[in-house]
Amino acid sequence: MAEQHVLAISGSLRVNSFNSWLVANAGECAPENMEIEVYKGMGSLPLYNPDLDDGRFSEVTDLRSRIGEADGLLISTPEYNYGIPGALKNLLDWASRPTNGTALRHKPVAITGVASGHFGTVRAQKQLREVLLNRNSDVVTDPMLYIFMGSERFDEEGHLHDEVTRGFLTDLLTSLERRIRINAIEYDRPEYKLK
Ligand SMILES: Cc1cc2nc3c(=O)[nH]c(=O)nc-3n(C[C@H](O)[C@H](O)[C@H](O)COP(=O)(O)O)c2cc1C
Repeated sequence: MAEQHVLAISGSLRVNSFNSWLVANAGECAPENMEIEVYKGMGSLPLYNPDLDDGRFSEVTDLRSRIGEADGLLISTPEYNYGIPGALKNLLDWASRPTNGTALRHKPVAITGVASGHFGTVRAQKQLREVLLNRNSDVVTDPMLYIFMGSERFDEEGHLHDEVTRGFLTDLLTSLERRIRINAIEYDRPEYKLK
């Protein structure tokens, strides 16, 4: 069994989504000691409402426990109107609560994103990084991976054939692997453990 278990989240609900294809290909670019599980429940999450945040939704419990149990996260976001899609923000809002036990706290997270156009999700990733830093997630900032012209990176079955992008994704996941190891040294101590 791999030493590091990473949960990969695509911020798109679209069937032939570039971002979903990217996370589906991530396992092939991951270091040997990392396994990547793709989260598929984003579309089943209800809209966040604090009044309903009382354990009634199994989808929410499942999301929180999957994030909590993962050694790290990989999030690939589209850019919608210069920001992250509402569905992804909704997922992060659920994951961010309860604030004293948030599964995102100190969680190593690598972020990336694929755009159909030329700007490569620069603005969406900046926003995503801010949301995660607000939750004290341990965000990988080097390298930053902005993938533009998504249709040129994948074949029709969603295989990531672009070797340059595969190399950059490998670099990002290698950096996440290192961040997970450093994070364990920094935070795997009783004073940092969440009750
Ligand atoms: C509602 C909406 C808003 C969008 N806004 C932007 C944008 O601000 N910047 C951008 O580069 N692309 C924008 N796009 C294009 C997306 O980059 C493109 O649809 C991309 O393929 C979405 O990712 P996906 O393939 O993973 O679904 C937008 C698309 C939609 C549907």
